[in-house]
Amino acid sequence: MNNQITRRAALALAAAVPAFALGKPALADPIVIKFSHVVSPDAPKGKAALLFKQLAEKYTDGKVTVEVYPNSSLYKDKEELEALQLGSVQLLAPSISKFGPLGVKEFDVFDLPFLMSDDTRARQMMASPMMAELNKKLEDKGVTPLAYWDNGAHVYTANKPLIMPDDFQGMKMRIQGSKVLDAVARQLGAIPQIIAIGELYQALQTGVVDGEDNVPSNIWTQKFYDVQKYLTVSHHGRLTYSLVTNTKFWNSLPADVRPGLDRAVKESTDFFDDTAAHDNDAALEEIKATGKMEFHVLTETEKQAWIAALMPVHRDMQSRFGKDFIDRIYKASGFVPPQS
Ligand code: LMR
Repeated sequence: MNNQITRRAALALAAAVPAFALGKPALADPIVIKFSHVVSPDAPKGKAALLFKQLAEKYTDGKVTVEVYPNSSLYKDKEELEALQLGSVQLLAPSISKFGPLGVKEFDVFDLPFLMSDDTRARQMMASPMMAELNKKLEDKGVTPLAYWDNGAHVYTANKPLIMPDDFQGMKMRIQGSKVLDAVARQLGAIPQIIAIGELYQALQTGVVDGEDNVPSNIWTQKFYDVQKYLTVSHHGRLTYSLVTNTKFWNSLPADVRPGLDRAVKESTDFFDDTAAHDNDAALEEIKATGKMEFHVLTETEKQAWIAALMPVHRDMQSRFGKDFIDRIYKASGFVPPQS
């Protein structure tokens, strides 16, 4: 018999014999987690997603492979939540201001202007027992929140200075999507428009909108400073993410994989908390250094004028969320409505 035929036959036989019959453990295909997000790999969320990948693969001994898709390369804002519910993607970390289309309106309450004064308070609030009932509402939609990542306070950017509430009159302002953000823009006399972050640079460049609000690390990594002239340090709102998974997928994970993933979630959350504030401070300095934007930090008097102008939104939202719920949120956030 010719040697080549014998070799081929041996290879075919080896391929047909199961690994266990040869005394080797079978190597199962790794579980693939697709983690899609809409910001730069250099933004805090982008960095935390990459760290999660590294830790999840390590702590599960390669039983899990994480594929990270940054910068809306897989799905944009609204699409990614639909994809999660359908199971086409397993992890996201969207802004909680974008949960409305899931049919969970309660998260919009966190957009009430000037609700949260500092980072510590904001984090405590998202970790408080009060969140259990909101988390349950997400779970009812097939979406499980694994952690909250607070990315800091919002500033405004625009193609004209925004110093006093009147400056917003007639401005076309991009909003993320929540009904509260819509009401804030309208209360200021602006025209709100929901635009996915992946389309925002172009919308600002072409004048589809005149301004937007965001955290400095996004303004830096998305290069909005190239297409916006003015930045107001207003800290009127916050950008909070929820690291969310598809409930069915998460609950069906094998028992030997879950502890490693839980540990990866915990450690990437700690990393995010250590990174966000630092990156926002650094981004402000970096934007300043480009010389492309004029900065204004709201004075206390200006801030009080903004709060007074926006209190009607707080009051109007009582009919949407219920006064009791808003009072509980005030208590948790430390917000004290000014005496009118
Ligand atoms: C935005 O849409 O401006 C942000 O929510 C984007 C993000 O995920 O940081």
